[in-house]
Amino acid sequence: MNAPAQPAAQASAAAEPSAAGNPGDPAAAAGTTPGASPEQAQFVAWLRLVAPYIHAFRGKTFVVAVPGELIQAGSLNALVQDLSLLHAMGMRIVLVHGSRPQVNEQLRLRGVQAHYAEGLRITDPVALECAKEASGEIRLDLEAAFSQGLPNTPMAHSAVRVVSGNLVTARPVGIVDGVDYQQTGLVRKIDVQTIRFALNSGAMVLLSPLGYSPTGEAFNLSMEDVAASTAIALDADKLIVLAETGGVFDADGSLRREVSEAETKALLAAGTLPEDTAFTLRHALRACEGGVARAHIIPYGLDGSVLLELFQHDGVGTMLVEETLEALREAGPDDVGGLLALLRPLEEDGTLVRRDRGLIEREIANFTVIEHDGVIFGCAALYAFPEEGIGEMAALAVNPQVQGRGDGERLLQRIEQRARAAGLKRVFVLTTRTMHWFLKRGFVLASVDQLPKQRRGLYNWQRKSLVLIKQL
Ligand SMILES: CC(C)(COP(=O)(O)OP(=O)(O)OC[C@H]1O[C@@H](n2cnc3c(N)ncnc32)[C@H](O)[C@@H]1OP(=O)(O)O)[C@@H](O)C(=O)NCCC(=O)NCCS
Repeated sequence: MNAPAQPAAQASAAAEPSAAGNPGDPAAAAGTTPGASPEQAQFVAWLRLVAPYIHAFRGKTFVVAVPGELIQAGSLNALVQDLSLLHAMGMRIVLVHGSRPQVNEQLRLRGVQAHYAEGLRITDPVALECAKEASGEIRLDLEAAFSQGLPNTPMAHSAVRVVSGNLVTARPVGIVDGVDYQQTGLVRKIDVQTIRFALNSGAMVLLSPLGYSPTGEAFNLSMEDVAASTAIALDADKLIVLAETGGVFDADGSLRREVSEAETKALLAAGTLPEDTAFTLRHALRACEGGVARAHIIPYGLDGSVLLELFQHDGVGTMLVEETLEALREAGPDDVGGLLALLRPLEEDGTLVRRDRGLIEREIANFTVIEHDGVIFGCAALYAFPEEGIGEMAALAVNPQVQGRGDGERLLQRIEQRARAAGLKRVFVLTTRTMHWFLKRGFVLASVDQLPKQRRGLYNWQRKSLVLIKQL
């Protein structure tokens, strides 16, 4: 991170209260340091709110796929400003651009029709020339945009170096079902060593949707293939694809904020998604299956969507989450024994309320479990109060042998996901010993009066559990 000294100094100067203070401010009248104005307080609160994300993302590798449509829509400059900011905050960025509309425009200018089969362009020699021209132009535009540094713009002092080159090896798609795809290719290999070298030296890496074969030919590739392959090869922390649809939507038009690998497979198998969403999602799934922790599909039409997705809890697109070898899944009747074994010691030392076998059997569908090699290592349950739009997360427990590895957090996220899917707006917990764990995860202290009516009646006043609520 090359944080120039000057902007920091300017920022701290701007945050200082003015010497004159606010007119009418009693502190100013008394000659003491005046309080912050509402705007200053809001600014400071906002910056503090994003601080955890900045800390978490520093040094992380993000592959960002930018479609040609975004460039055509004139949104390149805003995106470049946002990516420069991420770069300055220490994130390692590989940018992959697309060029679909630009290639089509070149073909149109030459009076040549574009040919596709199974959604894939057939790249004849003319189309390849167009792809080279389009990529060359976009690459130069991107390099120019990252070179901006006029004072009083978000790019002042940014000094982002962009490195690109022959970093993608391609192979031909070949002849499939009798269709010769000619110079349309697939990624064969990514030059990880050179990309890492460039990233380590503080540069941003730019990849075009073109690859080269050992025979010295150029192949036209899809942006999504290059981006997913690069994210896998680099073992990136995130793949972020800017897309027109900006995520996965349910039949009722509501955005799916988070989907698991298993859900994604089911969605793709159902065949109901729009073709372009399915195409993007297939590559996002491939990235997660290949070890990329998170793949985000976000709208390119929304100004600042990359920042909103990264720095806001809920984000603006759909996030596909990698599933680890441990299975996080909803519980079934066979899990009752495992659940009892996990919960009993915590019930005996008073951490959790006692639940007998019959109760767990009846309520098994409320439980989510983490299983490893057939053993239940963690669990949590959701009890919904739909009339009041709230749910209770109960019986959260992780086997002491594996605590501190994030399983508690994963269970909480799944319960929140289940609650959102059930249309709930808030979740609450009752706890006697784990308040701080919940506070750290966005819960706030509440009172017994705020519990749903039915639950209030069952509150155990002797146990004196604390009530914590989180907005979803
Ligand atoms: C609370 C619990 C589910 C967390 O599970 P986990 O898998 O260890 O959770 P994570 O790995 O996501 O989080 C671990 C972090 O939580 C902290 N933590 C664990 N128990 C805590 C507690 N009682 N209070 C505050 N923080 C706690 C750990 O120190 C660790 O912090 P770090 O990341 O700064 O090192 C687990 O400790 C547990 O089963 N506790 C007993 C049952 C319980 O209290 N359940 C809640 C009933 S409402």
